[in-house]
Amino acid sequence: MKILVLNGSPKRDDSDTMHITRAFLDGLQDVSQQDVTILHAIEQRVEPCTGCFSCMRNGGTCVHDDGMRGILDRILDSELLIWSFPLYCYGMPAPLKAILDRTLPLSSMAMRKVGERYEHVEQADLSHLHFLMICGCGFPNSRHNFEPAVEQFKLCFPGDHTIVTVPESPLFNVPEAAVVTVPRLELVRRAGRQYAEHGTIEPSLLTEIGSPMIPEEQYAAIVNGNT
Ligand SMILES: Cc1cc2nc3c(=O)[nH]c(=O)nc-3n(C[C@H](O)[C@H](O)[C@H](O)COP(=O)(O)O)c2cc1C
Repeated sequence: MKILVLNGSPKRDDSDTMHITRAFLDGLQDVSQQDVTILHAIEQRVEPCTGCFSCMRNGGTCVHDDGMRGILDRILDSELLIWSFPLYCYGMPAPLKAILDRTLPLSSMAMRKVGERYEHVEQADLSHLHFLMICGCGFPNSRHNFEPAVEQFKLCFPGDHTIVTVPESPLFNVPEAAVVTVPRLELVRRAGRQYAEHGTIEPSLLTEIGSPMIPEEQYAAIVNGNT
């Protein structure tokens, strides 16, 4: 499978979240060989969208002639697009959000009603694409935290999306926490295998992956230096 990973963490390969993403990719590779490209959003030359909408009117060309043209080609050439990012202010980091905004040329100005909502009609064929979000965060709680990013992802990619969230993800870069992070990454790897085999992940496994690795009060006490 041709996979494009868009890494939204400015920490590049040192990202806490990329530990999760790499474990997922390992799970995919356990089942079959994968063709993986990883792009660090912070390294891409992508101007913010100007909001002129000319890309939606003129057949898909943005007024900016920058790195996004190549990224759009890569997106369309992929079968699985993985958005890997840390939660920043309940959303995605700005360099990755700039890339998301600049996917506008994939849609036309025309809108259609689907159920109770409106969406833009594609002007590129995205039917071969599957979308996966992998998100780590710094707080120990998942509820009252991940919801805005999850909802945004579901609305942006209503067709085929899978969402993996993990709280307390700074622990992935703490060697002393291996006793809890290694088993968690094993669960993520299992999720990757399931996804490769069935195109979905059992909800119970996603819930387990999305639970705190250590009790939230203990995590908060460690972060606060109260141990
Ligand atoms: C600007 C900024 C905003 C953040 N906002 C949140 C947030 O809304 N919720 C949360 O749980 N963690 C938040 N965090 C913490 C990060 O999600 C956390 O440190 C994460 O593990 C970083 O992952 P990375 O190493 O993949 O970049 C924020 C961090 C930064 C720098």
